[in-house]
Amino acid sequence: MERILVIGASGQIGSELVPELRKIYGDENVYSTDLKEPAEEEKQLGPWAILDVLDTKRLVHFVIRHKITQIYHLAAVLSGNAEKIPLQAWHINMESLMNILDLAKEIPEITRVFWPSSIAVFGPTTPPDNSPQLTVTEPNTVYGISKIAGERWVEYYNQKYNLDIRSIRYPGLISYKTEPGGGTTDYAVEIFYEAIKNNKYECFLNENTYLPMMFMSDAVKATIDLMTADKEKLSVQSSYNVGGISFSPKEIYEEIKKHIPNFKISYNPDFRQAIADSWPASLDDSVAKKDWDLKYEIDIQKLTDIMLKGVKEKFA
Ligand code: NAD
Ligand code: SER
Repeated sequence: MERILVIGASGQIGSELVPELRKIYGDENVYSTDLKEPAEEEKQLGPWAILDVLDTKRLVHFVIRHKITQIYHLAAVLSGNAEKIPLQAWHINMESLMNILDLAKEIPEITRVFWPSSIAVFGPTTPPDNSPQLTVTEPNTVYGISKIAGERWVEYYNQKYNLDIRSIRYPGLISYKTEPGGGTTDYAVEIFYEAIKNNKYECFLNENTYLPMMFMSDAVKATIDLMTADKEKLSVQSSYNVGGISFSPKEIYEEIKKHIPNFKISYNPDFRQAIADSWPASLDDSVAKKDWDLKYEIDIQKLTDIMLKGVKEKFA
């Protein structure tokens, strides 16, 4: 029987991943942990705890006490926020990962770990269109540097200690359940809230900035598909490209306008423009498709429908 620990579970991904894991492994076997307390209604749905991934002693104690067999480590400082606190972000992103890797090495009951990487591992010297799985990775953001260093450590621990740590380079993730945590792709969520609240949006990226994006249900499915795939089929021991769909602020604006004809957009790029400019417009994820059958269901039209409906319901 698997017993799953999700760290950073109250964030944008965790809040949607935990319910899906509970469907598979049983409510009582999935521990939702974070620095923040979950909402009252979430507390009824399964075990939860306040847990700081940097508190090594308590982490080890928690894993042993609850007989944890798999860890999903989602705590991190995202790209936009990381640029404001570079050394702190480096410390949080790297120390937390090293804590988890060492735990997996020292506690044999832990059989599998998930840790997300990002499109941020790429940089201005990466071929920007359909960026290959294996290519130049020279990120120039602190977040990207922490993710590429993390990928190298993941591969090192997999090979050196024969562990099973799996990872996806997520694109920008779009959802309405929990607001995003300070990334560069957050505009593609904010735009829906502002369209419904104010009928206008000032975008912090310029109109033709293409980035890879993905709706959360596809991201959660991809995560679970990778984590349940046969190990022998996995040819990548660092992190898999997952491309999703590629669009620009102008394109998502045009889609929203089909539903809200008087919606207006203006562009006022800030420091996140340079981050976005250093990332690819699209990714080649053929290796993930071949190794573990990566698939998507949500295109830009469906994404727009679901987001508008979901955000409207939230406000209602
Ligand atoms: P998020 O910021 O929404 O959530 C992170 C959660 O971690 C927060 O709830 C926060 O309270 C918690 N946390 C922070 N420090 C902690 C600590 N010391 N101990 C325990 N919990 C702590 O982030 P997210 O969007 O859910 O992203 C999760 C992971 O996926 C991160 O590694 C991120 O880099 C990666 N990722 C996210 C995206 C995206 O678009 N959301 C894209 C690529 C990669
Ligand atoms: N969505 C994330 C960010 O913008 C990508 O890793 O930081």
